[in-house]
Amino acid sequence: FPVDRIRNFSIIAHIDHGKSTLADRLLEITGAIAKTAKNKQVLDKLQVERERGITVKAQTASLIYSHEGQQYLLNLIDTPVRDQPGHVDFSYEVSRSISACQGVLLIVDANQGIQAQTVANFYLAFEAQLAIIPVINKIDLKNADPDRVEAQIEKVFDIPREECIRISAKLGTNVEAVLQAVVNRVPRPVASIDDPFKALVFDSNFDHYRGVVANIAVLGGRVRKGDRIVSAHLGKSYEVNELGLLRPDEHPTQKLFAGQVGYMIAGMKDVKEAQIGDTLYLQDHPVEALPGFKPAKAMVFAGMYPMDQSDYAGLRSAIERLTLNDSSVTVQRDSSMALGAGWRLGFLGLLHMEVFNQRLEQEYNASVIVTAPTVPYKAVLSSAKLIKEHGREEITIVNPAQFPDRSVVSEYLEPMVLGTILAPDSYTSKIMSLCLTRRGIQKNMVYIDEQRVMMKYLFPLNEIVVDFYDLLKSLSSGYASFDYENAGYQAADLIKMNILLNGQPVEELITIVHRGRAYSAGKAMCERLKDSIPRQMFEVAVQAAIGSKVIARETIKAFRKNVLAKCYGGDITRKMKLLKKQAEGKKKMRRIGNVEVPKDAFINVLKRK
Ligand code: GTP
Repeated sequence: FPVDRIRNFSIIAHIDHGKSTLADRLLEITGAIAKTAKNKQVLDKLQVERERGITVKAQTASLIYSHEGQQYLLNLIDTPVRDQPGHVDFSYEVSRSISACQGVLLIVDANQGIQAQTVANFYLAFEAQLAIIPVINKIDLKNADPDRVEAQIEKVFDIPREECIRISAKLGTNVEAVLQAVVNRVPRPVASIDDPFKALVFDSNFDHYRGVVANIAVLGGRVRKGDRIVSAHLGKSYEVNELGLLRPDEHPTQKLFAGQVGYMIAGMKDVKEAQIGDTLYLQDHPVEALPGFKPAKAMVFAGMYPMDQSDYAGLRSAIERLTLNDSSVTVQRDSSMALGAGWRLGFLGLLHMEVFNQRLEQEYNASVIVTAPTVPYKAVLSSAKLIKEHGREEITIVNPAQFPDRSVVSEYLEPMVLGTILAPDSYTSKIMSLCLTRRGIQKNMVYIDEQRVMMKYLFPLNEIVVDFYDLLKSLSSGYASFDYENAGYQAADLIKMNILLNGQPVEELITIVHRGRAYSAGKAMCERLKDSIPRQMFEVAVQAAIGSKVIARETIKAFRKNVLAKCYGGDITRKMKLLKKQAEGKKKMRRIGNVEVPKDAFINVLKRK
């Protein structure tokens, strides 16, 4: 394919607006996949993705499309998108896949209209100066109102309404017009076959048998099987073992040319060797790396420990295998008096952490204790001794247990985010009071049509990372949407809070809180802990403390009756069954002092209802 008949594009959308359905339809029309009776989504692969209805890993496909007697190669570059805020979690990956494109299809649901992630995605594409094709999907719905959505698009994005394409991805209505628009409105890639070989890595996967499979966009020249290439970031060289196109299955080829998108296998053993955003070139013809390469930045940290120290090696290998495929997770060894040896892992957001944990348990059968998630705080040290120890004045703290005391610190800093909330205006006052309780500062508020408002708030990341989205959804009956982006650090009055069970500190539940919020946060945690810990044979005191000062307390009353009492004299098998059930229950319990705590309590107690 000559470069002027190649188009590289992506589909971006708010969750559930129909990205996967449209992708499947495009694949069908161009014959890349057979028409299936069911609306099966080919581009979504992982099991947890299916379960949670989210796309975690991007998939890519090259389509061949005939238009006015010419054949075009349309490279659909899929972007990982999340169904929760912190889609920004992945925006670095998204922005890299977007930088391999010259255009995007911006899908908007004809009934729901513009949502928070529509806005976030639009700006990513807009800042990358891509052609943006607005597509209004689900026009078959009874409540579809494409006129209203077109007006929103015109108002919020300043795109003339005439440019919108109305489709039903589900029924296939007008989908052909989308392909035509890709040909006509997306510019050809700027890539010349005569330049030295240069490629952008926009996704990478680890395969047990073949090593790292990198998805690349060739920005210049050509690469052949057997060539020696170098990855600019690490400067390591590799021999190209296999190359090919993705249609969407792998089709091996001998070469890849400027303008093409495909996969490459080159003996890399770890996805960290083919990081998203990295540049590849031929060993004999070095080129300048593409600008803007930066490794993913973890924003949520948690400790992970084996339930039983004898599972340490098993958990280590499970974590190693999972991180082979996800270079955005950071792993550090960690240990604690209470939990033994484990790790401190860094994630892009809470959903990322939950998916990781779920995969550990489901795919590797690991039983893991996860500590309360924390955001990366900073402290400016005032103690000369500590500054010398750390070799610097400003340190980052990702483990609340290691939070330095006020007496050795001149200032604490916390990470901030700029949140975007879209909702029907009837919920405005409820939303505003929720934001206020989360130390939110309103930056902006506009009507995007007669009934819908868009608000911008500056929040401490810590205040919204765990349960803000759930609360926002429930107070708006599901109508509000939310997204956020990084907004740097700000000074804050922070303190460390401990939770005690019968006087014994719970390592998993050490949290950093804002001084003004300490009392209510401590009270809420004690209340929820009381609800999540089953009654024991004795009374349990649940306390929140700052230093040695107790600021909140709840009491879990002792059992009245023995569970086995009702079986006395009765059926022995029934008794055995009951004991076995209890033993099974115990496996999921963690003993703190003399108290048994269900292991899922540690994350649940952070979620406010
Ligand atoms: P993620 O993969 O999680 O990002 O979601 P998505 O944006 O890809 O949405 P998806 O394609 O999974 O569609 C979401 C839901 O909308 C599914 O139940 C689809 O069947 C439905 N849907 C998609 N397109 C249409 C349409 O044109 N009409 C109607 N009525 N439903 C549609």
